[in-house]
Amino acid sequence: MTAQNNRRLPALICPDCHSALIKMENQALVCESCLFKYHFENGIAQLIGSKSSINFSELEVQDSVSDLYENVRYTVDTSNRYHQDSLEDIISFAQPNGDVLEIGCGNGVFLKTLSSRKNVSTLSAVDLSNEMLKHTESRMLSVDSPIPWQIVRGDGERLPFEEASFDCIFARGLLHHLPEPKKGAKEIARDSPTLHSLMALRVGFPGKCTTLEYLRLRRRLMGDFTTMQLLGLGLIQTLPLLI
Ligand SMILES: C[S@@+](CC[C@H](N)C(=O)[O-])C[C@H]1O[C@@H](n2cnc3c(N)ncnc32)[C@H](O)[C@@H]1O
Ligand SMILES: [Zn+2]
Repeated sequence: MTAQNNRRLPALICPDCHSALIKMENQALVCESCLFKYHFENGIAQLIGSKSSINFSELEVQDSVSDLYENVRYTVDTSNRYHQDSLEDIISFAQPNGDVLEIGCGNGVFLKTLSSRKNVSTLSAVDLSNEMLKHTESRMLSVDSPIPWQIVRGDGERLPFEEASFDCIFARGLLHHLPEPKKGAKEIARDSPTLHSLMALRVGFPGKCTTLEYLRLRRRLMGDFTTMQLLGLGLIQTLPLLI
């Protein structure tokens, strides 16, 4: 775990059995119940248990594109402005407050944007890719945020947090990366009964997802979810307008 001022941050738990984690002398964490050991890599807790089924080719892709995102995508001014506008749209739609979690935080651009919002009390973030998290960490360290934050390596489908830990959850651009988006969405929603907003889509322009993204999501999700279930999960409110 990389954390700043962890007094009020939601507690980390074993993603396998949801029991408390105990700090060991050698900087590892051990589950008090199943005794699974979680180590740290470059200061970041690796909270992926034995029950996660990792899609290694997806992980390899994300690891390999992280530097490209950082050194190419986010160095182009127009691209940055477009991206930042999208983030502001999401924030004004979701009105994040309290304890906020971002699942699949990538290289932390959204997390940094959230870190200056006055209604946000704490920020937690998970991603599968250590290469992405490396950028998230340095991005968060580069801002002097008054908001306590923590980042961990974790699986969105098996979150290392107690139920009802968060007031608002973002999973921007995540679902279509999961091996089973429907199952993933359900897991995320189940882990978070107080889910305020699960932003599954990248927002192309204010309040709407782009047609391509919508169609992709519809193809992968709509066979299994009705419109009401999607709304129940807190997915973007404009979906009914597009269906
Ligand atoms: C398209 S990127 C989106 C990054 C960021 N949310 C954004 O909007 O720019 C998808 C991210 O999801 C992460 N990811 C993929 N599968 C995941 C999983 N099972 N659990 C957590 N993160 C995952 C990837 O490593 C990657 O950083
Ligand atoms: Zn355990």
